[in-house]
Amino acid sequence: MKLNIVCIPGDGIGPEIVTEAKKVLNKVASVNGHEMDFTDILMGGASIDVHGVPLTDEAIETAKAADAVLMGSIGGDTNTSPWYKLSPEKRPEAGLLKIRKSLGLFANLRPAILYPELRGACPLKEEISVKGFDMLIMRELTGGLYFGERHTVEKDGQKVATDTLTYSEAEIRRIAIKGFEIAMKRRRKVTSVDKANVLDSSRLWRAVVNEVAKDFPEVTLEHMLVDNCAMQLVKDPSQFDVILTENMFGDILSDEASMVTGSIGMLASASLNDTKFGLYEPSHGSAPDIAGKDLANPIATILSAAMMLRYSFDLDKEADAIESAVDKVLKDGYRTGDIMSEGCRKVGCREMGDLIAERI
Ligand code: IPM
Ligand code: MG
Repeated sequence: MKLNIVCIPGDGIGPEIVTEAKKVLNKVASVNGHEMDFTDILMGGASIDVHGVPLTDEAIETAKAADAVLMGSIGGDTNTSPWYKLSPEKRPEAGLLKIRKSLGLFANLRPAILYPELRGACPLKEEISVKGFDMLIMRELTGGLYFGERHTVEKDGQKVATDTLTYSEAEIRRIAIKGFEIAMKRRRKVTSVDKANVLDSSRLWRAVVNEVAKDFPEVTLEHMLVDNCAMQLVKDPSQFDVILTENMFGDILSDEASMVTGSIGMLASASLNDTKFGLYEPSHGSAPDIAGKDLANPIATILSAAMMLRYSFDLDKEADAIESAVDKVLKDGYRTGDIMSEGCRKVGCREMGDLIAERI
């Protein structure tokens, strides 16, 4: 099979981790008789430096023509990087929002898993972490506050800023269906998270999710307010299977969920539209402080590549091979600095990529 993949190395540690993911994909291809065709495009700061904008229309067209997109990370230090002196629509993050919207990537899947080998890194009390957890946050990605109308005006001698949170029934329905579908392949539980005690958009969210639930009688549905969910994530994360939520709540809760795993360098993510097309990226950021030093953990990006094989190409066997190679490397005691613990061997980004590729 020929796999037509667009890569966005991006900023910070992005280029290093994408290089390792390509290394692993090439190994999978050679073992299984596939052909990988990689095309790089610029996005974020890297694109600003060359084109003056964080994403060109040409780059979007190149991405659209591919079967899937594999991304590293974008953005820099918001306090010191010159990119953040630009107006908001020209900053690195605007490129990410633009590609999500242009490619219709409304469903963002963010797994948060406590790896048994890395249990020691979990910041929660042992009596909580001992239960383990494996949840998936299904975040709506192209609506809500991120894409609502916004403006800042001068009123009565002071500035007034407005952002709007809008959801239509159709937008809620399509993400809810994705949430229930994925729950059917997991432990069949959906926790829909909203703020229905205050927001109209949340009351509509709840009503539509209840409707969709009727088509999935085997899935247990519960509703949870977002503030309570933030609390439950540290109190008892093992209660969650699929968390289904809107864009902004999902942004915040997915950072919290990844933090409680203690190993954000391990977490992959996928952003999907209604076809097989998807954009795959690690859940972590661009870590500009360690960029170019061969210190980054490439595992989240490598696992994102596995998700890409699974969701965009239906290559389950190949995806399994990557995931078990990652498991083996951990069992063999190799760690990058972020997940290092006593008695293990510390390796850099490149060596970690080599060790995983060797095990495929
Ligand atoms: C994320 C990031 C982005 C978001 C930023 C960089 C715009 O935090 O992917 O979670 O808020 O969606
Ligand atoms: Mg975020």
